Amino acid sequence: MGRRTIIEPFRIKSVEPIHMTTRDERVHLLEEAGYNAFLLRAQDVLIDLLTDSGTGAMSAEQWASMMRGDESYAGARSYYRLAEVIEEIFGFRFFLPTHQGRAAERILFESTCRPGDVVPNNTHFDTTRANVEATGARAVDIPIAIARRPSAIHPFKGNMDVEALEALIAEVGAERVPLVMLTVTNNSGGGQPISMENVRAVRAVCDRHGIPLYIDACRFAENCWFIREREEGYADKTPLEIARELFSYADGMTMSAKKDGLVNIGGLLACNDESLFKSESRLLILTEGFPTYGGLAGRDLDAMATGLREVLDIDYLRYRIASTAYLGRSLTEAGVPIVQPTGGHAVYIDAAAMLPHIPAHHYPGQALVAELYLEGGIRAVEIGTVMFGATDPESGEERTAPMELVRLAIPRRVFTQSHIDYVGEVMADVHANRDTLRGLAMTWQSPPLRHFTARFARL
Ligand code: F0G
Repeated sequence: MGRRTIIEPFRIKSVEPIHMTTRDERVHLLEEAGYNAFLLRAQDVLIDLLTDSGTGAMSAEQWASMMRGDESYAGARSYYRLAEVIEEIFGFRFFLPTHQGRAAERILFESTCRPGDVVPNNTHFDTTRANVEATGARAVDIPIAIARRPSAIHPFKGNMDVEALEALIAEVGAERVPLVMLTVTNNSGGGQPISMENVRAVRAVCDRHGIPLYIDACRFAENCWFIREREEGYADKTPLEIARELFSYADGMTMSAKKDGLVNIGGLLACNDESLFKSESRLLILTEGFPTYGGLAGRDLDAMATGLREVLDIDYLRYRIASTAYLGRSLTEAGVPIVQPTGGHAVYIDAAAMLPHIPAHHYPGQALVAELYLEGGIRAVEIGTVMFGATDPESGEERTAPMELVRLAIPRRVFTQSHIDYVGEVMADVHANRDTLRGLAMTWQSPPLRHFTARFARL
């Protein structure tokens, strides 16, 4: 009782060795990968912070669920177990399992968007934007203004700008807005949470215009924890109660269960509209599978059902958010500029502020990602002009992103405090030598989502 240290609320039953490489080896490996960390082999990475997606450790209970998985093609027991949990947490009338989040996104947007439509979001994740735009609709980000200032502190920096939403709907007409989406937490905006008050305000705007509200629920449990910690009136509620209220304001959701589903693969699409559900089911059958498995094995559905319950555990969420904040604090103490306050699943380094001598079109974030690998075998990801910018095919000019961030995403239940201390030390050394870093030139790209495969050379 009352101890200062928040411990991992689990012990380790199965371990996976990781291996150090030498700096000379890493120089060679990174060159072979075209300075793109996505193109490295995972075995050559010591601490992999590329993503928190599908990289978590399952619990003993989840592995037991895997064994219980019912592999019947249709109507499997595992499907009904999952349905029960979805009813309990999210409360939507209809749902479809999908193989991951973007499959749910494709089916949703193909079913609801026409060319010329507009989809507002606090900030679209890259696959969400790409799936909106693949239908000929336009994806518009309208976070609150402070969200674009990395060092500014705000308890709910993931909030949507409600006035901007009103103005956008007035400009394009409500009939051109098939749905409004809220990404909880706001991944591309720094893993920042959204307040319940903001969700209610967005809901009120949607109601006035008869527009459905959808939640991108990837990290809903982490968002609920921030509401519990930071929003008045929620301190005594359970994460489950907060989640139930959050989703009661929505007409549907997409989710990559690879985050707060605590599984390595899986996704969800849910709604309350029966005719929409029927057309979505038709699309699902075309490419994913029968509606009771959606491209997953029965055991995956079972592990997801167990994971969705575990993720709302108070001790788990306290540890989870504390461990991310711990890395944020250690970087801040070393003078590294990060997005403040620390978000839920990751620490975002402000590469533009750290490397002011590297202009955006020379990709300061990508240069920092390369250096973290060279210095300590750590893999991170750029969330800046490489991910969200574009090269004009005619002029060759680069459209740059609003922020140049590097994300250190923390897999769930995988690393211990000493791993995180190591990351802090490597980052402090890179920061001390920041003036020696040089930018990169993009030598090959394949848009959209060019960041996965682009190649670079050192300037
Ligand atoms: N929405 C958000 C907010 C996400 O962060 C992601 C994935 C998706 C949708 C798509 O889900 O990968 O299962 O198809 N984010 C991962 C990441 C890839 O690294 O942040 P998916």
